[in-house]
Amino acid sequence: MRGIFITLEGGDGAGKTTQAELLQEWFAARGREVVRTREPGGTPLGAEIRRLLLHGGDEIGAVDPRAEALLYAADRAQHVAAVVRPALARGAAVVQDRYIDSSLAYQGAGRVLDVGEVRALSEWAVEGLWPHLTVLLDLPTAAAAERRRARGGASDRLEAEAEAFHDAVRSGFLALAAADPERFLVLDATAPVDELHERIIARVAELG
Ligand code: TYD
Repeated sequence: MRGIFITLEGGDGAGKTTQAELLQEWFAARGREVVRTREPGGTPLGAEIRRLLLHGGDEIGAVDPRAEALLYAADRAQHVAAVVRPALARGAAVVQDRYIDSSLAYQGAGRVLDVGEVRALSEWAVEGLWPHLTVLLDLPTAAAAERRRARGGASDRLEAEAEAFHDAVRSGFLALAAADPERFLVLDATAPVDELHERIIARVAELG
């Protein structure tokens, strides 16, 4: 059996975790080995990088955009080498929260870096591994902010960024999806959870 690599993308609060859980259960119910993972933080090294990136606090100070892009790419390199490729080689389904598209949308479109350069960096990090399917849960920026507020808790470094940043990220994701409709499934994240799940498994079933 060949491995299947599926990534979920979208802004914070779009419902990626819920859909990843449902998809994990769906694969498991079919007797398929499923590896559910995420970036940043899918390995012990990655967990350290995640802590630095998102909760580094005052002792880290302002992170230069290139340094930030390299840290996400380092997390990704380790994750793909240690978790994703071995799982795919076993024939597992990998269901992953965030991947290269997050770097393109957040570090590229949302920041000052060139999207082509960020893409080249990540492709180098993972030796060209792209997902078979990327589900983009698209949520209007105002609705995403409302969900984050309702969820409560401390907001991390990026969640605290201005609305304009989230808008740029959302546009970045939509542009990536428009440029690669074969790989992307774009869903309106305001739709009911069950309906979104049905749409996702309909597309996953086509992967074989
Ligand atoms: P995520 O784990 O989805 O956040 P949380 O669990 O706190 O909801 O993602 C963490 C943050 O990292 C998110 O704001 C997006 C950002 N990010 C990037 O900026 N670039 C990347 O390459 C990745 C993978 C994430």
